[in-house]
Amino acid sequence: MLLRRMLLFLSRQRFLEEFFRKNHFGSRAKKRFVAGETRLEALNTTYRLNREGFKVTLDYLGEEVSAAQDAAAAVEEYTALVRDLARENLDAGLSVKLSHLGVRVDPDLAFENLLQVLNTAREYDRFVRVDMEGSDLTEITLDLVHRAHAQYKNIGTVIQSHLRSSGEDLDHLVREGIPVRLVKGAYLENANVAFQNREDTLLSFMRLAETLLKEGQQPAIATHDEKLIEFASDMAFIFGLDESDFEFQMLYGIRRTLQAELLSKGHRVRIYLPYGKDWYGYFMRRLAERPANLWFLLRHLRE
Ligand code: FDA
Repeated sequence: MLLRRMLLFLSRQRFLEEFFRKNHFGSRAKKRFVAGETRLEALNTTYRLNREGFKVTLDYLGEEVSAAQDAAAAVEEYTALVRDLARENLDAGLSVKLSHLGVRVDPDLAFENLLQVLNTAREYDRFVRVDMEGSDLTEITLDLVHRAHAQYKNIGTVIQSHLRSSGEDLDHLVREGIPVRLVKGAYLENANVAFQNREDTLLSFMRLAETLLKEGQQPAIATHDEKLIEFASDMAFIFGLDESDFEFQMLYGIRRTLQAELLSKGHRVRIYLPYGKDWYGYFMRRLAERPANLWFLLRHLRE
């Protein structure tokens, strides 16, 4: 737990980024969790995953931008990506972060940027998922998603089961018919806003999954935790859902055997596929989820 907190703390300390970038830690990290640094690599990996039967959601890596032009560059990349996905006829949508679209610079700017991405995505019949970041951005994220949904139906967001407020937030999203991806939550949070132990987060996940599967639009259960996957499958069966009514989502490079197993049982499985140069924050959160990854990388540091 202490190591997890330390890694999550370090994920926000950008001074380490250069070290990782220069060290061959970097290329190992990328290979393990990221499609590559370029759009072409992302498209190639999407093609391969689609051929294996997986759906994909693409994350152009980047977060916490502090200049409007960096947010504009993200919009440009996402729009180009949507066009390429459509041209190549790939089965993939987008995952975006509001801190990448400039919410720290100006929430109105981020909203305009989000609408621009949604507009192009709608033109090409693509779905846009707004990822959920740290709890200081939960309220603004939900607010902008609700507002955007009034104009664009190709939008959904994410609910984190470790947050105490998630029950209410999920109910609101479900009432509005906004699609939700349910996750445990990957950010460092204080006890006043988030459960601090795994059991509480797990129980909360189960309660939220029940609501989502019973009443939600296109429910997405995003976890690598077999107990939760089994729970969600059972709930879906009880509520009379068939395999095309909901989907499981997993991160690229994590528990590949389990991903393939779910596919072979007839489930819809979507892979969250990141690409781009700005992989540090994403990579550190993956380390924090499973500190054993750190030992694997440390062993290779000397090579
Ligand atoms: P848990 O961490 O208990 O993992 C279960 C098992 O899976 C582990 O025992 C291990 O075997 C394997 N595993 C999990 N993580 C691993 C890793 N990093 N490396 C190697 N093995 C690993 N969070 C968030 O805050 N906002 C968001 O928008 C999203 N979006 C998102 C999309 C998708 C598709 C997924 C799957 C997850 C997210 N997350 C997220 C991350 C999520 O909050 C959570 O941190 C991770 O999914 C890890 O939690 P699990 O539920 O997988 O369980």
